Amino acid sequence: MSQVAFRTRDELPMICGDFCGKDIVSLDQFAVQDIEYLLPVIQQMKKMAVNHEPSHVLAGHLVSLLFFEPSSRTFSSFSAAIKRLGGQTIEIQNPEIVSSVSKGETFEDTIRVFEAYSSAIVLRHPVPGAALKAARAAEYVPVVNAGDGNNEHPTQTLLDLYTLYETFGRLDHLTGLLAGDVFNSRTLHSLMRGLSLFRYNTVYLLSPQQLRLSRADLAHFAERGLRIIEIDSEKDIPRECHFWYWTRIQKERFSSLETYEEIVAKNFTVTPALLDAYASKDMILMDPLPRVGTIDPAVDDDERAVYLRSQVRNGLYTRMALLALILGKA
Ligand code: NCD
Repeated sequence: MSQVAFRTRDELPMICGDFCGKDIVSLDQFAVQDIEYLLPVIQQMKKMAVNHEPSHVLAGHLVSLLFFEPSSRTFSSFSAAIKRLGGQTIEIQNPEIVSSVSKGETFEDTIRVFEAYSSAIVLRHPVPGAALKAARAAEYVPVVNAGDGNNEHPTQTLLDLYTLYETFGRLDHLTGLLAGDVFNSRTLHSLMRGLSLFRYNTVYLLSPQQLRLSRADLAHFAERGLRIIEIDSEKDIPRECHFWYWTRIQKERFSSLETYEEIVAKNFTVTPALLDAYASKDMILMDPLPRVGTIDPAVDDDERAVYLRSQVRNGLYTRMALLALILGKA
């Protein structure tokens, strides 16, 4: 679905204050005003969900969830979001095994079949750019990117921005530490796009040498006004960070298990000692999860650890808000 005049470089429609019917493929479609519009809607959805208020906002809508890659949180929070709002879902995990994709049906045909039955398609796929391809294939319904390879994961970033906003009351003048697989982590790629929309944000990138941000992305984000500082050691983590955002080494993106294991062995993990040494008392510790070698469970009781608390819950409220807006009911 692509019908709006003003487009991003990739020919995607900008949100421009109107979510109705729009594909959500990249954070590049958002302007500050769109994020500012979304935040109170998420807040409203949170109130509704926390109070178990029944809703019929998506009544009559059927949304297809097509997940070509494994998922716990994204899949179940989309499913829960739709059902919480009175809508229904067609849920297919591993379409490459259980659908006609296994018989050789093309990706485009699969998308067009599911669009015939539903009001929107939520897609996760291992290939970067698959969400854009799906958005082009679907003529009548919006496509939401739930993660395309190592490219982007826009709905994760919207929930991450909400989590930051809820904590600090602003999305500018923030300093963050982004750690782990900076090269492959789609959550980080979208988050950097999101943070670069707001003024005076700084990110410190801590990753194994082989997994640094690509030089092209580094230049691109810096050009957009995000201050980026690469560091090589935990010892360089500045005390003033408002948040740490840890990511696992993305095993599925490696062609050699040996290389993966070598890198994992040298990777950085958050421990109570690391927090004591380098974290401020008012910061928050985030992780999109799953945590695999990222955070020692001994940290879980620390009040600053939000990954299994507000961050994971905000995924539900954010996806409720987004779907309600896209399907024109909020
Ligand atoms: C992330 C993903 O799938 O990109 N998980 C998620 O959606 N919450 C992060 C990851 O898998 O490492």
